[in-house]
Amino acid sequence: MPAQSYPALLNNHQGFLHGADYNPDQWLQHPHIIEEDFQIISRAGMNSWSLGIFSWAALEPEPGVYRFDWMQDILDRCAQANIAIILATPSGSKPAWLSQAHPEVCRVLQWQGPREPHRGRHNHCPSSEVYRREVSRINGELSRRFGAHPAVKLWHLSNEYGGECRCETCLQGFRRWLQERYGSLDALNDAYWNGFWGHPYNDWEQVHPFEVIHDGLQLDWRRFVTDITVDFMLMEKAAVRQHSDLPVTTNMMGHYPGLDYWRLAPHLDVISNDAYPSFDGRSDESTSLTQAICDANLMRSLGGGKPWLLMESTPSQLNWTENFVMKRPGVHRREMYLQIGAGADGTCYFQWRKGRGGSEKYHGAIIDHAGTHTRVMREVAEYGHTLPQLEAVLGSGVNARVGLIEDWQMRWGLECAHGPRKNPKHKGYMDEIHAWHHAAVSRGLSVDIVPSNGDLSNYDLLLMPMGYQVDEKLGQALERFVGNGGILITSYLSAHCDPHNRCHLGGWPGSGLRQLCGVWAEEMDGLPDGEVVQVTSETHLPGLAATGRARTYCERIHAEDAEVLARYRSEFYAGEPVLCRRAAGKGYAYYLAARMDQAFLDSLIDAVVEAHQVPSILPQRPPPGIIVQERDNGQQRFLFVHNATPTAREAPLPPGTWTDLTHGSTYRDSLSLSGVDSRVLIWQNISS
Ligand code: GLA
Ligand code: ZN
Repeated sequence: MPAQSYPALLNNHQGFLHGADYNPDQWLQHPHIIEEDFQIISRAGMNSWSLGIFSWAALEPEPGVYRFDWMQDILDRCAQANIAIILATPSGSKPAWLSQAHPEVCRVLQWQGPREPHRGRHNHCPSSEVYRREVSRINGELSRRFGAHPAVKLWHLSNEYGGECRCETCLQGFRRWLQERYGSLDALNDAYWNGFWGHPYNDWEQVHPFEVIHDGLQLDWRRFVTDITVDFMLMEKAAVRQHSDLPVTTNMMGHYPGLDYWRLAPHLDVISNDAYPSFDGRSDESTSLTQAICDANLMRSLGGGKPWLLMESTPSQLNWTENFVMKRPGVHRREMYLQIGAGADGTCYFQWRKGRGGSEKYHGAIIDHAGTHTRVMREVAEYGHTLPQLEAVLGSGVNARVGLIEDWQMRWGLECAHGPRKNPKHKGYMDEIHAWHHAAVSRGLSVDIVPSNGDLSNYDLLLMPMGYQVDEKLGQALERFVGNGGILITSYLSAHCDPHNRCHLGGWPGSGLRQLCGVWAEEMDGLPDGEVVQVTSETHLPGLAATGRARTYCERIHAEDAEVLARYRSEFYAGEPVLCRRAAGKGYAYYLAARMDQAFLDSLIDAVVEAHQVPSILPQRPPPGIIVQERDNGQQRFLFVHNATPTAREAPLPPGTWTDLTHGSTYRDSLSLSGVDSRVLIWQNISS
């Protein structure tokens, strides 16, 4: 999105939000602990708590018996202390009495399998009328009491919506959803190509996503799961809005595979994310850094470019990882700066204080069982106290000239297809997204995530790896984009299918991409893991690696109307093209026919940026281990420079004079960073 200044994340709060999930309901019998919490929060440089996320049983210990006094007390004290409360609806975890009285509020995991027992959390049936009624009731009570409380700034709808239910009610809902979408069984039979294996329906009751596993049907089931979740979320939103006009959010989980977040986003006032990258600061973590940036870029893009909120992260360990590696000193700050660099105007944690029991007593927190005389607390506080110095950054956007076309429709389309590789996880869609995103971000490019029905007009360069589902509309949009001077790089496995998962006829890539890219992909070799095919470049694209290694997917393509930039060098298809380019209108379309190693991909991005003068943060690729990001409000530019390695590095700077926002030192040309260091700089518009 173009550089611009956005309104504050919350119009009722100044400055960065710096908060944590707070569970005073676990400590009601220990008032001195709660007392302490209020002392500690400002020492930690924090100003916000997310309250009530799993508090239903504490608010309503028995059906209809309410205990809102403790929450009232906390909120009143927060209002006095100027602590911004993000108030959660408690639907993520239901009271045991509810599951006991109405077992149908729980999920069915397998069709015709048993209902889930009560269990931990996040396991309700989204179609259950009883659950909807009960959630709406408790949300309404919260809204009535606290929806206008001065401490409350934002609604946190539920917690990490996710999963699916395979009960009879959900199945009936799916059939109704199909009827609305398709209108007739003829249309449905055609969309699913139901002549195959003799499965045309003549009654809606015959539609069965758990028994007949045709590609199109599976894909629609996933779409339905998103839509029923959105419907549930809107029910929650309507309930809190009864007595409150505060903004709403729900905490997402990056590229969580189960929900199409593009369908949730338009209903949310604030986009928020939970992010737990496994940084520890002991090795070159460039790849993990760019992966975390990929999720963060998605969050900014989901909100149309506006600043968003990191709702959960941890300053120390995760209790659910294989090992228990500590974040080395400095790693926490780098992780937070990286999120701000991608547009976050608030960074919060799970969790404020470690509980004594339960299943997350070892999970990172600000306050440990021993109290606050800890390294983690010190690092959080140091970071928290630098936030006011970064306030100029608030509200700025990210001027991304590169759009990465990827979404759940592409991903699910491929995953729901039987083939080309058997295991959906081994198809590697997200691996390839991460690899292309890494190539761009490690080059110093700002990248937006663009959904397949998104607006392409803001970009100079579009990347569409494994763009599996391309309909006519996207095909035409890409043609226009290139015709108007844009550069497109797409790849193998693109435009195979339409949105019903039916293959395009007339040769891949379909939907006009065969003409646009000037290539026809006749067949594809799916290689076992570990096998490689050698690739050699021609010399027409300066900067492209001379050789490379292809693996996993190698298409045999014909350059029908395209220039060949690289060819296979081994296998029976040695000599055939693997990378082509076609000039079309004012722009160019590149087609990469195989999954290439990272170094080759990096060089391809470098070469394309150079050849077509794609604007980037740095004039050249920074040295390995240095990652940069930029925010821009149209008047001021902010540079985020990260050392992804544990050893000192010299980071090149873009032209001009740059001032460190936290201590005022100025730099030109380059900046020395110690291991895992991270800086935020502002551009000085003066020549000296
Ligand atoms: C999720 C949940 C939190 C907590 C953390 C632990 O993000 O939302 O309640 O369980 O994981 O990492
Ligand atoms: Zn259900």
